[in-house]
Amino acid sequence: MLKLGVMVSGGGTNLQAIIDKINSGYLEGCTVAAVVSSRPGAYALERASKHGIPSVCISKKDHTEPKEYDMALIEYFGKFDVDLIVLAGFLSMFGEDFINRYSNRIINIHPALIPSFCGKGFYGIVPHQKALEYGVKITGATVHFVELEYDSGPIILQKAVPVLDDDTAETLQKRVMEQAEWEILPEAIKLYAEGRLVIEGRKVRIIEK
Ligand code: GRF
Repeated sequence: MLKLGVMVSGGGTNLQAIIDKINSGYLEGCTVAAVVSSRPGAYALERASKHGIPSVCISKKDHTEPKEYDMALIEYFGKFDVDLIVLAGFLSMFGEDFINRYSNRIINIHPALIPSFCGKGFYGIVPHQKALEYGVKITGATVHFVELEYDSGPIILQKAVPVLDDDTAETLQKRVMEQAEWEILPEAIKLYAEGRLVIEGRKVRIIEK
């Protein structure tokens, strides 16, 4: 059984997509062992408790020392013997102690086609606003392994969606979530669970079935 530790900060729709794909059998052999939110009021915590998933808020406000924050995360996930950390809209930054503890076992979903519209400050609605401002014709989402730099690390999957002339940042965000994020994040977890992801330098090779 692949035990997932999911980290959230907001509505939790990506967490919900993972839960739904487990329940549908698409992610058989996976389970969400624990959820950590960086924010106490995140609706993602409601979703976790509705599904009986242990969850907690571990906020930087309570752990101002970076190393202490990392230790709090490591301690909590250690209780559940987590195999893979999934950042599903997690907005706080942890340090190298956490990254080293889960080396090559942390993946993140970003709401743009990295290296476009990514990096510090590019989260939530911002990548979609910037995509509209720039006038790109396609955008999308990226799942990648996490390294210390924001939105860096070898790319696992990407999926493009069209930008429509009458899009607002909100309509574009909804399309990216529905058509890209909620598909490729579970798909990346499935590939990882099947041992089909090989990191080769900056790249990820997917072993065909
Ligand atoms: C998503 O757009 C995700 O790509 C970004 O933050 C948002 C999280 O949404 N990292 P949710 O909490 O999964 O609904």
